[in-house]
Amino acid sequence: MEEQQKSSHVVLVMVTFQGHINAALQLATILHSKGFSITIVHLELNSPKPSNYPEFTFVSIPDNLTESQLSDKDIPGLVRSVNKNCAAPLQRCLEKILHSHHHISAVIYDSFMFCAQPIVDDLGLPGVTLCTHSALGLLFYHVFPQLNEKDCISGLESPELQALQLQGFHALSSQNPTEAGLEVGAAFANALKSSSAIIVNSMEFLELEVLSKIKQYLPTPIFIVGPLHKLAPTMCNSLCTEDNKCISWLNKQAPKSVIYVSFGSIANIDKQELIETAWGLSNSKQPFLWVFRPSMDRGSEWTESLLNELEESVGERGFIVKWAPQKEVLAHAAVGGFWSHCGWNSTIESICEGVPMLCRPFFGDQILNACYICNVWKIGLELQNQERGNIERTIKRLMVDMEGNYIRKRAMDLKEKAAFYLMEDGSTSCSFDGLAKHISSV
Ligand code: UDX
Repeated sequence: MEEQQKSSHVVLVMVTFQGHINAALQLATILHSKGFSITIVHLELNSPKPSNYPEFTFVSIPDNLTESQLSDKDIPGLVRSVNKNCAAPLQRCLEKILHSHHHISAVIYDSFMFCAQPIVDDLGLPGVTLCTHSALGLLFYHVFPQLNEKDCISGLESPELQALQLQGFHALSSQNPTEAGLEVGAAFANALKSSSAIIVNSMEFLELEVLSKIKQYLPTPIFIVGPLHKLAPTMCNSLCTEDNKCISWLNKQAPKSVIYVSFGSIANIDKQELIETAWGLSNSKQPFLWVFRPSMDRGSEWTESLLNELEESVGERGFIVKWAPQKEVLAHAAVGGFWSHCGWNSTIESICEGVPMLCRPFFGDQILNACYICNVWKIGLELQNQERGNIERTIKRLMVDMEGNYIRKRAMDLKEKAAFYLMEDGSTSCSFDGLAKHISSV
């Protein structure tokens, strides 16, 4: 297989968010190991580190994002600006690559960079969509907002999944998508229609029924290639510096005693919620490791005074970092729970380490992931509100109570299934071979 692909060249168009960058570079690493040569096209904002990947060619395109676009708290608004600003530079960039390389086997683009599909159509190149969210996310984004309640559950046999679909449907409907949200959703669905294949960073056994439902709607071949972080495990693609001191602190904690708290790379958390989070953690009496990112207003007077007060109150029991080596943290024996925003990467990483979750989704697919975690796989609890008393009680339910033991047991079972799935003859390697063949043949 590797020999056949020596001359095949894949261009991968990345978007600017941490979770998306991780998945794209992991995918590129695996395709390279299968013999493809790789060009990464990335935006100027949040450029990856080319020195980590000397075997790839990196090309940067201007994003021309203004201060006001960058400070847009509405993620679909930012995604819309990125696509508007980057379409022309991306077209020029692909034309230039074509002139110098003569051949591009496929352009794989992050689903948030949907402006790529009409461009590759124009250039007569095959486009492949990379979804850094679940297959369930794909279903919702593809058929939403046309879906009604009845469509939503048709074709799903298990009552848990029917409930999940309805819950996700209502949660997403009640979010009243913004104008940008609707525009981005429509553009994404359009791009999917002419995409030659779809790649999803998931594991088949997690989403069997959903996958078969997607096939009713979408004729496009789908390659389920996850968990990418386990298949390309050595790379550190963090845009922020990882604070490894937390590992020495974890080494001193009792097994499964620590709750790891991280809300991913882009969720906006308001001041009151940060205050409640701090005091909920303090009152829970449980050891905790908290990722308090610089973008959570860190450095301002009020956050510094909150963190000082918290540190005074909890002493050695708590550890706060700006950015953690998350995969290492989740694999650490001291970590017994993950309070998460339920981003898809975080969800998959937690599943692979058997860590039960406390779910606080913020927007988009995070809401669907939380439904999966709490209602279908039953490996987590949903935080019903962000008030400190409730936080304290829910942490205890997950970390100390019998209920938490059952959830932990199911999380460990899922970890075993993931490990089995990853074994050499498992579906993942077949899926990659299928993807490699597809790219070489289109
Ligand atoms: C976004 C969306 O929120 C998510 O729902 C979508 O599916 C992907 O894009 P993000 O907020 O970046 O994701 O969260 P997530 O998908 O969980 O990715 C975060 C990544 O950053 C993970 O790979 C995690 O390991 C890493 N991380 C996070 C660190 O390495 N250190 C940290 O301190 C926090």
